[in-house]
Amino acid sequence: MEKYDVLTLEFAKGLAQDVGRIIKSNVNSLSWTKTKSGFYDIVTNVDVEIERMVKKSVLEAFPNDSFLGEETGTTNSLEQTKNKRLWVIDPIDGTTNFSKGIPHSCVSIAIVENGETKIAVVYDPFMAELFEAVRGNGAKMNGREIHVGNVSNLEQSVINTGYQYSAEKMREKVLRDYQSFFGKVRAVRVFGSAVLDQCYVAVGRIDAFWEYSLKPWDVAAGSLIAKEAGAIVTGIGEEFSIYSNSLLVTNPMLLPKIMEILTKG
Ligand code: IPD
Ligand code: CA
Ligand code: CA
Repeated sequence: MEKYDVLTLEFAKGLAQDVGRIIKSNVNSLSWTKTKSGFYDIVTNVDVEIERMVKKSVLEAFPNDSFLGEETGTTNSLEQTKNKRLWVIDPIDGTTNFSKGIPHSCVSIAIVENGETKIAVVYDPFMAELFEAVRGNGAKMNGREIHVGNVSNLEQSVINTGYQYSAEKMREKVLRDYQSFFGKVRAVRVFGSAVLDQCYVAVGRIDAFWEYSLKPWDVAAGSLIAKEAGAIVTGIGEEFSIYSNSLLVTNPMLLPKIMEILTKG
């Protein structure tokens, strides 16, 4: 690994843990919660404060890099950022959980180069779990290498999904998919943090995860962590990129069966 990447990774890990402390200490003391695109899409003062803090720290430490965050947008147009290092941040993934005091959310930090994630760090302060990956170097949780699970049949699989109510055009498809797995898999879970869902596939807790209409900050870090842990990361009927509309993350053995169900519906 290049020295510059090691430095960046260590910086991102420190930052993620600082943010984690803020998330955890604010969980039951929000100043405000506002709706964004609909009554189901919310943001809290903590999401915004964290993102401002992260943006400032990143741009002070790496002034030549660009920044894309869920709450404050980007420092450059996406076209301009293509050839630069781009930090893609979700200050709190799982804001609805966070706003209700449900201890399942995280901060997600990805460093993207030429449209592909090179370094990824995710921290869940409630479980004190730090996930990290550098492209080509495997994935770790709390410093130990992690790998996807080895469940090969649907009957034994526990799979996970999520949905954005705001993505109206996908509603019917989301409901059809959900139903198609009933009676075929052991369980379908909806935990409310797409980023942790991808990390959970990486560490073998969940056998597969799929969702539509995710944004770059929902997938940039988690997808690399899952891939480096041995998962297949793909779009559904399209190629995966951090800008694509669909995501399936699965252990390799379940890929054909799950893809068949998702593409049929
Ligand atoms: C959301 C969560 C949720 C997923 C939504 C995301 P947010 O992110 O990851 O699990 O189903 O699609 O928007 O708003 O909590 O950062
Ligand atoms: Ca998110
Ligand atoms: Ca968020």
